Amino acid sequence: MTDRYQQFARSGLGRQLVRRLGLPDPTPLRRHAPGQPALDGPAIVGGKGRLTDTVHAVLKATGTDEVADAEKYAALVFDATDIDDPARLRELYDFFHPLMRKIGTCARLVVLGTPPSGTGRDAIAQRALEGFTRSVGKELRKGATVQLVYVAPGFEAAAESTLRFVLSARSAFVDAQVIRIGTHGGDTLTPDDWERPLAGKVALVTGASRGIGASIAEVLARDGAHVVALDIPAQGAELSDVANEIRGAALQLDITAADAPAQLVKYLRERHGGVDVVVHNAGITRDKRLANMKEGAWDAVLAVNLSSQLAVNDALLAEDVLKPNGRIIGVSSIAGIAGNNGQTNYGTSKAGVIGMVDAYAPVLAERGATINAVAPGFIETKMTAAVPLFIREAGRRMSSLQQGGLPVDVAETIAWYASPASAAVNGNVVRVCGQSLLGA
Ligand SMILES: NC(=O)c1ccc[n+]([C@@H]2O[C@H](COP(=O)([O-])OP(=O)(O)OC[C@H]3O[C@@H](n4cnc5c(N)ncnc54)[C@H](O)[C@@H]3O)[C@@H](O)[C@H]2O)c1
Repeated sequence: MTDRYQQFARSGLGRQLVRRLGLPDPTPLRRHAPGQPALDGPAIVGGKGRLTDTVHAVLKATGTDEVADAEKYAALVFDATDIDDPARLRELYDFFHPLMRKIGTCARLVVLGTPPSGTGRDAIAQRALEGFTRSVGKELRKGATVQLVYVAPGFEAAAESTLRFVLSARSAFVDAQVIRIGTHGGDTLTPDDWERPLAGKVALVTGASRGIGASIAEVLARDGAHVVALDIPAQGAELSDVANEIRGAALQLDITAADAPAQLVKYLRERHGGVDVVVHNAGITRDKRLANMKEGAWDAVLAVNLSSQLAVNDALLAEDVLKPNGRIIGVSSIAGIAGNNGQTNYGTSKAGVIGMVDAYAPVLAERGATINAVAPGFIETKMTAAVPLFIREAGRRMSSLQQGGLPVDVAETIAWYASPASAAVNGNVVRVCGQSLLGA
């Protein structure tokens, strides 16, 4: 769906009004296209922590020049992993302050830290990085973003897939997030081709006939996976279109059916000998204030958005259908973090998805697999097109990037989790929301 305000704000008259009245000025975001460079300008790296070698290697491998005195930068990376005392937080100021007017359009800022733990001053200093990152995010303009990536000691090489994601256009709508690397979920495998890291993998995507699910299916197929696209029989025609387009398979199934887990186990085992990536994207809303909500609306939302997903996970794990180095990926929502008026059922189910990640992460790590979730904010889909105009505009503009995201932004984040190179990314819930003000 088109963002008419954004188009108007880029027109001649629109530009003048935006400037004079101080209206939101959403910059069109640079998004990944196959063959396009990860970044469209030079990078600068500061700090002397454990990750500088990995950062230099990633920049080199992605064809990004490091320049000491550029007019504008496409990436600014500060390695703060060795900051062991709050007094040394001044190093952040010393690096970023002189560069704040040299940040290019859609630039990527990244702060690297060590996960805070224990009772020392190092933990206090590392925890402080979060406030810096989230505040800088609110100051950035022109589509630029910032992330904090905590990397546990010993996991420096395992950070490559994450650095490639945050230092590229693939993370266009991910802003001011804290990512944790270091709970091992199997071997971190370097793909032969970073453009097709899922070659030879089988991915199941639920709710794949339209919207975000269709985009997830397309992006995972683009990255090399054979995708089994699942949706309810009523969506059969659209589902076939998506599956044909990506040369995947269409599976008509209601995931809330009592025998759905068993059917999935049978299908995935018989046709593919198992599954590598499971994306629980299917989701519904049945909005009403709690006082007016019928019990059926509560039950339906909890069944699709949470209980059926747990039943599928349990069956795949019990029957050993999730392959070694497997990935389970949930789709939560910022409504599950911030709550939303009229969405007690939906908010409960989406917070439950976060609970699912927390509860399963240690279990999956033991099996050499991972579980993570995305929490989308306002994404331009049929679901959000149906929202009344005023609320829709508020949803779009009340974020640092001042616009809605696209389904592909959610899909790219899921593809990063799905990569065999992301084995040390486990138990994360990353918002894809342009740093929405809701529940920040
Ligand atoms: N659009 C947004 O802004 C937004 C924001 C946050 C989270 N989300 C979440 O992202 C996911 C996708 O959202 P969307 O906007 O693309 O929604 P959508 O309604 O366009 O797509 C959801 C899909 O799930 C399928 N589905 C529903 N019940 C099913 C069942 N029982 N079995 C199998 N498939 C079923 C539907 O048929 C549909 O194709 C959902 O989980 C949603 O809650 C969306």
